[in-house]
Amino acid sequence: MTTKNSWRAPSNIALIKYWGKKTQGNQLPLNPSLSFTLKNCYTESTAELLDLNKTESEVMAYLDGARVKSFDAKALKLKRYFEKDFPGLIDKAIVLQTKNTFPHSSGIASSASGMAALSLCLLNFFKTETDADFFHLASYYARLGSGSAGRSLFPHLAAWGLSELKGTTDEKAIAFNDYHEIFKDYQDSILIVSKDEKSVSSTAGHKLMENHPYADARVQNANKNFHELLSVLKNGDLEQFNKIVESEALELHSLMMTSTPSFILLAPETLAIVMAVRQFRKESKIPLCFTIDAGPNVHLLYPKKYLSAVHEFINAQKKNYLSVIHDEVGMGPQKI
Ligand code: PMV
Repeated sequence: MTTKNSWRAPSNIALIKYWGKKTQGNQLPLNPSLSFTLKNCYTESTAELLDLNKTESEVMAYLDGARVKSFDAKALKLKRYFEKDFPGLIDKAIVLQTKNTFPHSSGIASSASGMAALSLCLLNFFKTETDADFFHLASYYARLGSGSAGRSLFPHLAAWGLSELKGTTDEKAIAFNDYHEIFKDYQDSILIVSKDEKSVSSTAGHKLMENHPYADARVQNANKNFHELLSVLKNGDLEQFNKIVESEALELHSLMMTSTPSFILLAPETLAIVMAVRQFRKESKIPLCFTIDAGPNVHLLYPKKYLSAVHEFINAQKKNYLSVIHDEVGMGPQKI
C-alpha cells in the first residue's frame, strides 16, 4: 500500500440544483441534479498516512502550507466513512495538504472540489484508478462528505440521482455524456459579488427543506426541469437551456426566501446583474444566461464563440462585482 497520494479535483456548477435531503438515509438528495464540471477552479490535495500514535491528532489539515484546524473535522468525518469499508485506515493518521486555484475568500465553495480530491486520495490507498468503478466509488464517498462533491468526479457534465440514467443513484453520480458539442467548452464567468462567509450554510439550508411548504412542488419541478434539460442538452436549443437554467437558480433562492426561518443570500448587485443579463440577451440576441448557487455570486454561462462580446458586457458591469473568474466546462479529476 502506498502511503501518499495526490489528486486534483474540479469544482462544479449545478444547472439542476440539489436542494434538501431525504429524511431517511445518509445525505441522500430530495431531487436529482446535474452540473457542469469546471476546468480552472479546482483543488489539489495530498494525503499522507502516518501511524496514529506518531501524530498529535488523527487528521492534520493544511491549506497553502498553513495548518487550518477548522478543516480537520470534515476530513475526519470522511475518514470514518472510509474506515467502515477499509479498516486498514483505522490505526492511521492523515496529513492533508490542500490548495485551491480560487481564493478561499472568493465566495466560491471549496467543499465540492475539496471533498472530491480527498475521497480520491483516500480511495487510492486501496483501489487503483484503472479499477472499473474507481470514480463511481469516489463519487459515493465524496457525496457523503458534501452532496455536490459527488458530481466533481467526472469531466464536462455529471448527473446525480436520476434513476432512469444508468449508473447513478441517490448514492453516487455518473458522467453525463449525451450532450451537444456546444456544451463541451461552454463558458462560465463567475462574478464575485461578495467575499463574505454565507450567513446560512448549505447544511442549514438543506435542513429547512424538511418542513418546507413547497418541498413537494420543488421535487416535481426539479424532475420536470431535468427531463426537459435532457433533450435540450442533446439538441443544443439554447433558448430552452437558458429558460430552464435561470428558473432553477431563481427557484433555489425562492425556496430559501420562503423557508421558516426565511433567509436571503442574494445581494442587490446580484439582481442588478440578473436584470442586465436579460436586457443584454434581449438586445444582442446572444444566448447568455445566469445561474446562482447558495450565495450572491453570479455564474454567467455562454457558448465560447460569444466570449469577446460577453467579456465586454462583463466589463460594463464592473460596478456590480468585486472580481471575476473566467472558467469553462472541462476535464475531470487528475492524479498528480
Ligand atoms: O453540497 P452542498 O451540501 O454544499 O450543497 C450544495 C447545494 C447547491 O450548491 C446550492 C446546489 C448544487 O447542486 O450544487
